[in-house]
Parts: sequence; C-alpha cells; structure tokens
Amino acid sequence: MANPRKFFVGGNWKMNGDKASIDGILQCLNDGDLSANTEVVVSPPAIYLGYVKQNAKNNISVAAQNCYKVPKGAFTGEISPAMLKDVGIEWVILGHSERRHVFGETDDLIAQKVAHALSVGIKVIACIGEKLEEREAGHTEEVVFRQTKAIADAITDWTNVVVAYEPVWAIGTGKTATPQQAQDVHDSLRKWMSENISPAVATSTRIIYGGSVNAGNCRELAGQADVDGFLVGGASLKPEFVQIINARR
Ligand code: 13P
Repeated sequence: MANPRKFFVGGNWKMNGDKASIDGILQCLNDGDLSANTEVVVSPPAIYLGYVKQNAKNNISVAAQNCYKVPKGAFTGEISPAMLKDVGIEWVILGHSERRHVFGETDDLIAQKVAHALSVGIKVIACIGEKLEEREAGHTEEVVFRQTKAIADAITDWTNVVVAYEPVWAIGTGKTATPQQAQDVHDSLRKWMSENISPAVATSTRIIYGGSVNAGNCRELAGQADVDGFLVGGASLKPEFVQIINARR
C-alpha cells in the first residue's frame, strides 16, 4: 500500500534572519524545483510572518514559532492564533524544545496552546523529544509518550497536527539521530498512538524528524518507513533546504 502520509518539510528559522537574508531564502525557494509531493512550511520570527507570507509562492505555507493559549487580552509580548489567522498564517510550531527548556514551557501549557490553536483553525507542528540524559538513562519512550499524552488528553481531532520528534541532543549539535534511532522512536510513537488514541490517527498522522538534518543525511532518514518528513533548523536557512524538501523525490 502506498504511504498515506504526504511528506512534510518545515523550516524553523528560529530567531534568525533579516529582510535581506529572507529575500535570499525566498528567492531560492520560489525559484527552486520543489517536489509537489512535499508539503513545505517555513517558520520565520513573528515580526517577519506577514513579509514572508506576502513574498513566498503559494506552494509554501508559513508557520509561527509560538502562540498563546487564549484569543486576546493582557498578555504582553504574546500573539494569539486568532491573530495568525487574521494575517493569513496557517501553521504554528508549538512545544519546541527551546520553548520547553529555555522558556520553561510545561507539557500542560503546550497542550493548552495546541488545543486552542486547533480550535481557531491553525494547524500545529507539535514538538516532542528527550534530552541527552533522558536517552542515556533509557527514558526516551517514557518522555516522548508523556509529552504526546499531554496533547492527546487535550484534543480530539488530529487531522491538523504534525508531530515533530526532535531529540534535544540532536538539535543544533551536528549529532543527527541515526536513521535507525529515528525510525525506532517514530515506530514506538505510532504504536503508542494506535493503542492510546486510535489506529486511524496513528496511520494518518505525520511524524517528522528534527535535529541536524542536512542535505547529506536527509535521503537516508527519509527512506525510513515511519519518518514522514523533517523539521529543519540551521539548514533551512541555506540553499540545501531545497534538497531536503526533495529528499523523497
Ligand atoms: P537544527 O536542524 O539546527 O539541528 O535544528 C532543529 C530544530 O530545532 C528544528 O526545529
């Protein structure tokens, strides 16, 4: 049976870029020969969301890197999914390890944000992943199941969710998970989803991998049965992002 899940590649620019460099990245993507079989999403810093939306071709969707859990109010510095929708943004990344570990976001807060964003019609890239000490202690599955369960307890419809497995030890370190390490976690997650959510959700939900993905390692990772795409940091700011988008061509 053909894989029912469309390949998905997101570029998380984190807190990088200015208008000049964004023009360069967009030119590369707009002129690039991007596989029609890949769903492509780029995620600039919030202040550039509108600029990227205006200047990216419409085969490229745009994601915010964060949003809050209510529509509006006295929450200085935050933006809401209603505001994202208002300016034509379709996606948001939630639960990124930097939000969890630099800014102290909890499983519970992330689950509330996911539920609220979905309720407004914003699609979610929900990030999970274990730290190095958790992997070394043999707790990888326990951690990613706990993080996924928090989200599963808060939502009922997974249609607009992509799960990004990003082992913290692989992010920005150049230490990519081996294709087998990624496949093993994705496979366990899918089994967990089948048993704890539903077999249909487990079959249809994309589980993408993030952590030091580049043009050199993307094809082998993309060849794994349960790796449905990537969330790319550093390499999404470079021309090689096009090769990563086309990893499964
Ligand atoms: P790098 O690709 O730079 O390791 O970052 C991964 C990531 O955090 C994407 O969200």
